[in-house]
Amino acid sequence: MDFSAKTLNIVKQPSPCLVVGVLKGKKPRLSESGAQLDKATAGQLRRLLSQGDMKGECGATLMLYEPRGIIARRILLLGLGSRQELSDTSIRKATAAAVELLEKCSIKSADFTILDCVRETTLERQARNIVEAAAETGYLYQETKSGRKHKRSLRKVNLAVARKNLASARAGVTRGSAISNGINYTKDISNLPGNICTPSYLARQARALQKSHGLKTTVLDEAQMKKLKMGSLLSVSRGSREPAKLIIIEHKGGKRGEQPIVLVGKGLTFDAGGISIKPASAMDEMKYDMCGGASVFGTLIAAAEMALPLNVVGIVPSSENLPDGAANKPGDIVTSMAGKTIEILNTDAEGRLILCDALTFAERYKPAAVIDIATLTGACVVALGSHASGLFSNNDKLARELLSAGEAAGDRAWQLPLWDDYTRQLKSNFADLANIGGRTAGAVTAACFLKQFTENYEWAHLDVAGTAWNSGRSKGATGRPVPLLVEFLLGRIS
Ligand code: BES
Ligand code: MN
Ligand code: ZN
Repeated sequence: MDFSAKTLNIVKQPSPCLVVGVLKGKKPRLSESGAQLDKATAGQLRRLLSQGDMKGECGATLMLYEPRGIIARRILLLGLGSRQELSDTSIRKATAAAVELLEKCSIKSADFTILDCVRETTLERQARNIVEAAAETGYLYQETKSGRKHKRSLRKVNLAVARKNLASARAGVTRGSAISNGINYTKDISNLPGNICTPSYLARQARALQKSHGLKTTVLDEAQMKKLKMGSLLSVSRGSREPAKLIIIEHKGGKRGEQPIVLVGKGLTFDAGGISIKPASAMDEMKYDMCGGASVFGTLIAAAEMALPLNVVGIVPSSENLPDGAANKPGDIVTSMAGKTIEILNTDAEGRLILCDALTFAERYKPAAVIDIATLTGACVVALGSHASGLFSNNDKLARELLSAGEAAGDRAWQLPLWDDYTRQLKSNFADLANIGGRTAGAVTAACFLKQFTENYEWAHLDVAGTAWNSGRSKGATGRPVPLLVEFLLGRIS
């Protein structure tokens, strides 16, 4: 979908469809553009509203064909709710409803005039919301369907605004498109099956971002990881025929030498559990065990498209976790890059095994902060469901920044503790630590495991096991937490 912002003469402009806001009140009220169109159509819009078919409820729609007196082919009256209740959520909800109807009518391009209803101070933000909601509603996974592909019809969305608001609308469109492109990219690679999306595939995609987005990509292979003594990460990929990769993607938008934000994403392209094999039901969803890594790709794409004046480094350790004669066995002890020995009591707790070495590797970037993103534990899904990602941090200021970024982006996280009481659950009789901490507080003990490897910098961990994809009939990647991460980065520049 292409987005733009322009100043239009809505009466004289040819348009397949003008989307016009209606506000809810005692009586439904037309927006400024609506009033202008009402005049041009000799009162057609007000007569319609007076019949009571459209009350201005948020997300209500009414399509008018061949309106008289104007050039546009259609007018879509779009309910925005009451003026007092206008918010990020209501603009997104109304936009989604409009886009669904435009799609149903096979309309290719539309001009949204609804920004004339929002306060000028929120205009940039609301422009961004329209773009993000339209892109989200228009998302369709197609990669692995054969035959005549079902195409989305709506290709172009223009925001028609008054001249004085053009600059803020354009700024909103730029940010909204960048974020949406990041989210959709994340969804696409996440939705791919494990037999296509392998560690090598992710490495190739990362390399392609050099040309398409001016990002700098480095890929370490198993031999290079062995030299770095990444014994923990390599132990996971030993049970797989696909070689592991350590993918590094850099956005150099900040000053030379400025400390980067490092994002570390779990890129486990299929998690069968290894020798501690998972039950069969819904195991297909373990192709989504690389969603943390995918969100790192998406966030770097957004950062590049926005030309964020920050240095951002993405690190994605990527591997499969399968049972095999060479695979980790329960009781095996491996040595991590940090030198700590780990007793693998459950081979299905593999995420922390690949992340700990990537987190140690992150030290060489002298990071301002490190945030890891991982579909790490089923226990986090039990604790928070699909509404919030689990957040853990060794730094309260960083935690607060991430929590409020999530709140602002409608992509919430909720903080859980990292107390030593929990860390003690990881004690091993045979190694420095065990990779599991017993039946209770599984999301917390997993985070406490990572904490052992992040003592040299400010660090936060996002457990996105419940938020990165939807199950059931609407099975599919959500693109979370790209909105949270981009909002966090934006907060670091202003
Ligand atoms: N990738 C899974 C976590 C997961 C499970 C995410 C289900 C979403 C849905 C992770 O590698 C894993 O298997 N974790 C184990 C840890 C346990 C063995 C301590 C889990 O959560 O069961
Ligand atoms: Mn696992
Ligand atoms: Zn996993």
